[in-house]
Amino acid sequence: MDKYSFIHYKTGILALDEQHWELFTILNEMRAAQACNDVIKARTLLNYFSSKLSEHGVFEEYLMRSCGYPYFDFHLSHHPESFKQLKRYCDTKAIHGDILCTDIVKISTLLSEHIDHYDIQFGVWYTKNINK
Ligand SMILES: [Fe+2]
Ligand SMILES: [Fe+2]
Repeated sequence: MDKYSFIHYKTGILALDEQHWELFTILNEMRAAQACNDVIKARTLLNYFSSKLSEHGVFEEYLMRSCGYPYFDFHLSHHPESFKQLKRYCDTKAIHGDILCTDIVKISTLLSEHIDHYDIQFGVWYTKNINK
């Protein structure tokens, strides 16, 4: 994803947007490594992505809880599924087989969908109620 496309996935919360952007940047680097057949680099980046994703989930949940986001439970009920699905996909790929272009597209799609369906809702609420 390039910076122009990323605009559509902005929550308006700087810390979250920076973390989401970092995740997409890692995926871009992984795509470049995969295109050069640098299997080791692509796999290293996949592991890095996976750990950054976990850190991001913890931070985002903390932020939602600490500001009293009323739909926290709803969001949380989707986090484990979205993140588990993503993590499972990354971890399986990190252990078995080469990372293909289609894998990176799939990971990017899962991440974009989660942001689009759930994180942006939080951003709208946060901007209206906290960050006025
Ligand atoms: Fe989220
Ligand atoms: Fe997020």
